[in-house]
Amino acid sequence: MHSILLNIGLLSLASLSFGATIHLESRSSVNTTNPAYNKTLTDELELAPTSADRFTILKNQGPADAYFKYNFNLAVNSSPGGGTGRGGSGVLANRKNFPALINLGVAASVGFLNPCGMNTPHTHPRATEFLIIASGGNVKTGFIQEEGENTELTTTLDQYEGAIFPMGSIHYEFNDSCAPAVFITAFSSDDPGLSRTAQNFFGLNPDIVDADPGFPSFLDHTNIARFAATIPPAFALGANSCLDRCGIKY
Ligand SMILES: *[C@@H]1O[C@H](CO)[C@@H](O)[C@H](O)[C@H]1NC(C)=O
Ligand SMILES: *[C@@H]1O[C@H](CO)[C@@H](O)[C@H](O)[C@H]1NC(C)=O
Repeated sequence: MHSILLNIGLLSLASLSFGATIHLESRSSVNTTNPAYNKTLTDELELAPTSADRFTILKNQGPADAYFKYNFNLAVNSSPGGGTGRGGSGVLANRKNFPALINLGVAASVGFLNPCGMNTPHTHPRATEFLIIASGGNVKTGFIQEEGENTELTTTLDQYEGAIFPMGSIHYEFNDSCAPAVFITAFSSDDPGLSRTAQNFFGLNPDIVDADPGFPSFLDHTNIARFAATIPPAFALGANSCLDRCGIKY
């Protein structure tokens, strides 16, 4: 009886101190950089015959907290894989910069949309995307899938709401507001890929680019390169009405 009570006492003492330890532990990982993977290591990881072998290789590089975690903080991702521009930035973790994902069939990103910021229309050739607004709101999204259903399917997302963009669809997100927004995405591939629609269309043979829209008067094959050069690389500033409302100069 005594010892049972003692044990219960010790147990609650233990859980108390466990709780206290977690509570008091100071964490400052917000700026922890992600490990670099040189070609030798990348090749070795890609060639590992099983996932278990791959995890062993990763485990032997250092602490699990470094090789099995990805920091999406913009401060430690100077050239984020999702692109960057005046409208914001996207930090992407895929099988290349986070090899723990190799062959797991998933990837993820965090997008930071400035006021009136737009993640310009693009496709992911190998992944469906599920996007959720973590902070901010009034984020407009749209996608067009393919012939047979080629109307634009749109949503307006507030905090904690999400929308899907099926594999191959052309889609965008636009923060129609004067405050920043943050979104989180999941991809159904460890190598979703990214193709910016306007940027890549204008990279085609100028004669084709001129012919495809029916030879518009403002466009001829001599000024297509100039026209293409004005297209922002990735995240852009969106709708004039938003820019006017928020007092942002384009
Ligand atoms: C590549 O990285 C591995 C693991 O960190 C290291 O052992 C190796 O020396 C590096 N190789 C080169 C060529 O830097
Ligand atoms: C993280 O790094 C950024 C940029 O260097 C800096 O502005 C910020 O204060 C840092 N945050 C912390 C918590 O150290």
